[in-house]
Amino acid sequence: MIAQNQLIDYLDQNLDEYLTIWKQRIRISDDDIYKDKVVANGKLMYELVRRNIVEPIGDEKIAELAKKVAKQRVEANINIGDFIYNVNLGRSVLFNHMTNSDLSSNDLQPILESLNELFDKFAYHAVTEYTKIKHDELQEKISYIDETHQEKLSILGQMSSSFVHEFRNPLTAIMGFVAILRKENPEMKYLDVIDHELKQLNFRISQFLHVSKKEIDGVEEEEFELSDVFNDMIDFIYPSVVDVDVHILNNIPKGLRIFGQKDKIRQVLLNIVMNSIDALKEIKKNRTIELIGEKKKGEMMLHITNNGPVIPEKKLDTIFEPFYTTKELGTGIGLYVCQKIIQNHKGQISCKSSEKETTFTITLPAV
Ligand SMILES: Nc1ncnc2c1ncn2[C@@H]1O[C@H](COP(=O)(O)OP(=O)(O)O)[C@@H](O)[C@H]1O
Ligand SMILES: [Mg+2]
Repeated sequence: MIAQNQLIDYLDQNLDEYLTIWKQRIRISDDDIYKDKVVANGKLMYELVRRNIVEPIGDEKIAELAKKVAKQRVEANINIGDFIYNVNLGRSVLFNHMTNSDLSSNDLQPILESLNELFDKFAYHAVTEYTKIKHDELQEKISYIDETHQEKLSILGQMSSSFVHEFRNPLTAIMGFVAILRKENPEMKYLDVIDHELKQLNFRISQFLHVSKKEIDGVEEEEFELSDVFNDMIDFIYPSVVDVDVHILNNIPKGLRIFGQKDKIRQVLLNIVMNSIDALKEIKKNRTIELIGEKKKGEMMLHITNNGPVIPEKKLDTIFEPFYTTKELGTGIGLYVCQKIIQNHKGQISCKSSEKETTFTITLPAV
């Protein structure tokens, strides 16, 4: 005990001197709102050192003080590196002085060891707390960004659905009159071309539907065969299939029944198969799309596979985001709408891709 008291006396007498040395060498930024506190904290640290010399301080107490200081450091927006530098500087200034005291190295050794432990623990707790606070702040920011992202999506949905209606109504009228013209003048040229183009336009516009929940409500639901949906869809895309020279293998068995909105499910198939056709344009030969349907434990699965280029692993989630497109004339809305429709039917859609092939899998509750 005598050695300890002797050391404390010695340190107390020289306190001003090494506080001055320490202050001259510490790293401290001008905009630190706790600038004045840094010196106060230095003194506090010295108090801890004093107490620790008499009796090693418990971990809890060290943690308490370290946490308080870490919080201040976050508020002052200070680099944690500077802070740790200052603490360690304090340690070395102090240790330098201690070796100048009259204590024998035998007496000094255990005291230094215990002080080292104090400083190490203090730094450990301060950095841990600092990181934790910073991490929580970051999480908060991320969730704020996610929230605004969701809000934007919903505004986008409302906008696109009203804009779609503006286009749809006249389009429906034109399509109706073209149908009448065809009936009355079966020989008239170009009507089939006009009709086909209008259908394509209609399809493009419908891609923007369903982004809003409103569009999904209010449409009749029914029970239907998946293979019927396929047949509707294939009629529609036939010209592209021929044009791009794609081989389509249909392995959807009869008896796969779904309950929901047939039009929407047709649109999902259409979007995915159209995407596959686009992708297949990038390969030279044996362009193939295969559709496989199966039933598993009350679920219906549809796999749509094409042997086109690989979608990089890190893009597999991104392709479902609105406006992500790699095509010159793409909208980037197709897969986003597919996902919305499938989710609204209480199902899931996912994608796997390798050098060999890319597969989109849709899972829906089976009837
Ligand atoms: N079968 C596929 N093979 C390769 N890439 C695909 C496939 N389907 C979709 N993609 C990628 O996902 C992107 C987004 O698709 P989508 O949402 O339908 O928008 P768009 O077709 O307008 O680009 C495409 O631009 C393409 O890069
Ligand atoms: Mg698409």
